[in-house]
Amino acid sequence: MLTHDDLLPRARALTRPGRRAILGIAGAPGSGKTTLAERLVRELNGTGEPWVAHVPMDGFHLADAELERLGRRDRKGAPDTFDAAGYAALLRRLREEADGEDVVYAPGFERVLEQPVAGSVPVPPGARLVVTEGNYLLLGTGAWARVRSELDAVWFCETDEEERIRRLVARHEEFGKSHEEAVAWVRGPDQDNADLVAATRDRADLVLRGLPGGVGPGRTGAGSVD
Ligand SMILES: Nc1ncnc2c1ncn2[C@@H]1O[C@H](COP(=O)(O)OP(=O)(O)OP(=O)(O)O)[C@@H](O)[C@H]1O
Ligand SMILES: [Mg+2]
Repeated sequence: MLTHDDLLPRARALTRPGRRAILGIAGAPGSGKTTLAERLVRELNGTGEPWVAHVPMDGFHLADAELERLGRRDRKGAPDTFDAAGYAALLRRLREEADGEDVVYAPGFERVLEQPVAGSVPVPPGARLVVTEGNYLLLGTGAWARVRSELDAVWFCETDEEERIRRLVARHEEFGKSHEEAVAWVRGPDQDNADLVAATRDRADLVLRGLPGGVGPGRTGAGSVD
């Protein structure tokens, strides 16, 4: 059985001289994708010159004003509330400019405002590996298919359902929702999205189960990998 530490050589193995590799991490809302990506990037970079960058799919959320115009504000987080084509284009650019001189800026997602913010995530010219993570990397419909084709490998982050829901409610509360609002959102729109994502699990190159569920963020240890 593999552990978290085995993921580091697997990520390193995706890189090739003269090109930039892109690793995707997919998984349901609250499954631990961002936590896992941050940890991988931190551990791969170590204390030297950063060569691994973290680009979240979340930066491609459409802004509330545009969701309002489209009549989709009430299901923010669904696949058609993201700029999937823009995400695919950025991933392509990250690949094509592997030997470029410019910093490539990706948008980030501001959790208090719940809005995307352009120019938040710098990918330096020296980044040889990009770790990107989000719900719909394996969806395969519309522009999401182009997203998948830009990725060298996709790992699927799976966490026990009860634990995933508990964490998601806690996070919504942390960012300002009441307990009732948080539970309603997690059982409603979040769950529809979670079901969609769960159906893409079998397309992953690797399924990470209980990671990081069995271990706290930043620690190494238990957890299993299929
Ligand atoms: N190993 C862990 N132990 C305890 N809490 C964790 C662990 N991993 C993640 N969490 C917490 O669970 C919540 C969800 O984790 P995270 O944000 O990494 O998930 P995500 O898959 O990126 O979610 P989203 O799809 O909403 O962006 C966060 O509040 C995070 O701090
Ligand atoms: Mg996240």
